[in-house]
Amino acid sequence: MNLFKPHRLWFYRGGIMFSERNVSRRIHSYSNYRELIESYTTISDKHLTPEIKLRLITPECQAWNEPVESNSQHPLGEPFWAFYWPGGQALSRYILDNPSVTRGKHVLDFGSGSGALSIAALKSGAKSAVANDIDHLAIAASQLNAQINAVELKFSEENLIGNECMDYDLILVGDMLYDTTLSDSIATWLLNLRSANKTVLVGDPGRGPVGTSSLLAQLCRLAKYELDSVTKKDNYGFHQAHVFTLL
Ligand SMILES: C[S@@+](CC[C@H](N)C(=O)[O-])C[C@H]1O[C@@H](n2cnc3c(N)ncnc32)[C@H](O)[C@@H]1O
Repeated sequence: MNLFKPHRLWFYRGGIMFSERNVSRRIHSYSNYRELIESYTTISDKHLTPEIKLRLITPECQAWNEPVESNSQHPLGEPFWAFYWPGGQALSRYILDNPSVTRGKHVLDFGSGSGALSIAALKSGAKSAVANDIDHLAIAASQLNAQINAVELKFSEENLIGNECMDYDLILVGDMLYDTTLSDSIATWLLNLRSANKTVLVGDPGRGPVGTSSLLAQLCRLAKYELDSVTKKDNYGFHQAHVFTLL
């Protein structure tokens, strides 16, 4: 059985790369989200990569104290993209400090959230970087963040788990091992990509699913970073985050 799905067609519009699916509607709707995102977030550099400025929900924002993640009626939905997750911060820091990892590479930022990892990859000399997230608000937010940081990102809203990723040399996985089921399905896919000679880098603060995942035996730690966790919400209470490569 071929686990891999065929690639979607891509093209540029206004310096941004989109899949062919519903393009005009999406461009319209992404720009419609700008106001919504700006009204709930602030531009922040208070994280491990201050050279990247991101629209985030921080303690200064009213939304910080609103139960957005558990309120299905909230206009932001579950705004994972409005937080810079510890594993993502560590992996971005690593990329910025080790530009040889990304220089000249075609990079996939899987589960991109704010788009921080793609932005870090481009700042470190990647030839291209695709921010991939199944949440259209995340794509809209990463579009805004790309503008703030003056980089030309590409975007994908497709679920790529199982995809062959022919167009990429380097797969970045920032804090995606937060759920056991998701973690298991990602593990098989990433191991397949590694067998196909892709470089796979994982940022993780030591979440439970990593310990049970079939990835564990294949992960080699490259770096460890201390996080500034003031409250449980800051960095989700984690004090350290790690960067691994898949052997
Ligand atoms: C924990 S956040 C990590 C965000 C970012 N990588 C970071 O480190 O800040 C997880 C993100 O993955 C996205 N996501 C979940 N399942 C996905 C999938 N199958 N494909 C692409 N994105 C996915 C969510 O929408 C969310 O934005």
